[in-house]
Amino acid sequence: MTAAKSADVVALDDPRDLSRTLAESFCISANNAITARGTFNVALAGGSTPKAGYALLASPPYRSLIQWPRVHFFFGDERCVPPDHPDSNYRSARETLLAPLEIADANVFAMRGEIDPSTAVAAYEQILTRELGPLPILDLILLGMGADGHTASLFPGAPPDDGAQTLVRATVAPPDLAVRNRLTLTPYTINAARKIIIAVTGAAKAKILAQAIDGPYDPTSCPVQIVAPTNGRCTWLADREAAALLRNS
Ligand code: 6PG
Repeated sequence: MTAAKSADVVALDDPRDLSRTLAESFCISANNAITARGTFNVALAGGSTPKAGYALLASPPYRSLIQWPRVHFFFGDERCVPPDHPDSNYRSARETLLAPLEIADANVFAMRGEIDPSTAVAAYEQILTRELGPLPILDLILLGMGADGHTASLFPGAPPDDGAQTLVRATVAPPDLAVRNRLTLTPYTINAARKIIIAVTGAAKAKILAQAIDGPYDPTSCPVQIVAPTNGRCTWLADREAAALLRNS
């Protein structure tokens, strides 16, 4: 089974169109969750792809479409750096989304990149179970994909799903990526989500996206293939350049 068989693939014209679709999907997931359970629990992706979508959400008309005090923000992964470091996913989300929307600190659950990774893993697992229960079910997890097929901070070279039912893991990124030491949700936590959106743009990712969606199932070499929600839905958002080599593009 490849990721595509349990996922929808939506091809968008360009990154702007993808960001608009991301913001719209976020609003739909948020309002569905708030209507159903009073709260929307979302894990944000790091990297550059979602930034424009975050900025859209913090701007009219989207900012007025969600009851933001009912949104609790988590993170799919983090670099092991302080929260004010230029490579921090928390800092990036704060600048583009959380600060412009004046989100209360009490509603933001950051991974602690500034402390010892194993301590940070245990601390975040406690936060997830305290806030979401023993099997944390996030309403929405936003993910990106690297040109090597990684997602969150699950990198090629080791089976992303180690079979243990841990919620958070410390990993080490390949030498070409910013910040080697990382913290990441595990596939166990990711695949428990009600909805997963994986956003991919650019020609540089066309080959790996075709491998992820149309290629043989090999999550050790293409970790994003491990994303297959148990009960939820996964949607790929890809712009035309990234989707160029897909079988059905
Ligand atoms: C991170 C992300 C990572 C990211 C991909 C894609 O911490 O970097 O969680 O998984 O989503 O590397 O990054 P871009 O969106 O910058 O291409």
